[in-house]
Amino acid sequence: MNRKNVLFLIVGIFLAWACGSKQQSNSKAIDKLQEATIDGKNIYQRECVLCHGEEGDKGVAGSAHLTQSSLTLEERIYVISNGRGIMQPFKNKLTPGEIEAVARYTQELKR
Ligand code: HEC
Repeated sequence: MNRKNVLFLIVGIFLAWACGSKQQSNSKAIDKLQEATIDGKNIYQRECVLCHGEEGDKGVAGSAHLTQSSLTLEERIYVISNGRGIMQPFKNKLTPGEIEAVARYTQELKR
């Protein structure tokens, strides 16, 4: 290999590395953006109203009244992720960011 080729190779490797790491930080930025724009209320109305009701006090089939719940954010995230009783787990249906957003929304239902 002559010197010119070696130089091209080095530049090539450098570009591949630079592009690769740039792409990664871009997708991280997109993740952050999505997290910030996830609408917990929207998810709640789509996935949870059926049992818990608009106001969180419907109580279908013994659904806990979210208006009365004293669970912490972490505990809510756990219940929503893993389910409890007849409530199915949501960890395969919602992303961690969506679960956190909807958990935060359930805290707003507290009276
Ligand atoms: C199929 C009906 C059903 C759906 C859909 C459902 N839940 Fe539940 N949820 C329940 C029932 C029933 C319980 C009580 C479980 C138990 O304690 O045995 C419960 C408990 C909870 C609790 C714990 C409250 C406490 O104080 O113990 C939270 C938080 C919760 N649900 C949030 C949600 C969220 C958020 C969604 C939507 C992503 C959701 N649930 C969807 C039926 C449902």
